[in-house]
Amino acid sequence: MEKVERRTVTYSKTTITELMIPSYANFGGKIHGGILLSLIDKVAYACASKHAGAYCVTVSIDNVEFLQPVEVGELVSLHASVNYVGNTSLVIGIKVIAENVKIGLVKHTNTSYVTMVAKGDDDRPTPVPALVLETKEEVRRFVEAMKRKELKLSFNEKMDETKNALDLEGELGILKGQRCLIRLDEKGATS
Ligand SMILES: CC(C)(COP(=O)(O)OP(=O)(O)OC[C@H]1O[C@@H](n2cnc3c(N)ncnc32)[C@H](O)[C@@H]1OP(=O)(O)O)[C@@H](O)C(=O)NCCC(=O)NCCS
Repeated sequence: MEKVERRTVTYSKTTITELMIPSYANFGGKIHGGILLSLIDKVAYACASKHAGAYCVTVSIDNVEFLQPVEVGELVSLHASVNYVGNTSLVIGIKVIAENVKIGLVKHTNTSYVTMVAKGDDDRPTPVPALVLETKEEVRRFVEAMKRKELKLSFNEKMDETKNALDLEGELGILKGQRCLIRLDEKGATS
């Protein structure tokens, strides 16, 4: 098959709409976060694989914060588009909207960013087409994704440094005022 050099954002835009049925609910009657995560992963795959023209795998899902609960009976729509492409990776932005059709209420429940990597038949990462940015919004999303990637990298480095520098014996004072009780037995104290 001929290799595609570039594709527009519009080419792979994908929306999934699903009715929230009672079996998706938790004991409190709201929709399980895991149901929404699964839908986020699905729509990200559909969008990424369409852009890549290849099988894709999920590497990470960022910014999963459910701002409002989703109720049984609501229609959840997940709007996905490619925000950024690297060499073999893609970042898919997903806006999740829940709609109560009876009272006409529309809620924006969260926006997440899924990083996916395209794989070739040899199961190795394979290059994806470049992204054609046709609107200012698409340019803004691409730049934001680059910044988010940089920030995540520096956060991870800082967190590693912090963990390596942690001296638990010396820093127990940090726990003052926290809602925990320390009950170390001899084994816990020395390990
Ligand atoms: C993600 C994966 C393909 C990376 O493989 P790898 O051999 O380390 O590949 P590379 O180092 O060449 O990286 C490939 C791309 O992934 C990106 N990547 C790797 N780790 C990453 C991470 N933690 N976060 C974001 N991007 C990452 C790299 O930046 C690179 O992107 P680029 O080509 O656009 O520059 C591999 O770790 C994998 O297959 N993981 C399992 C994924 C999976 O099965 N997911 C389903 C959940 S069960």
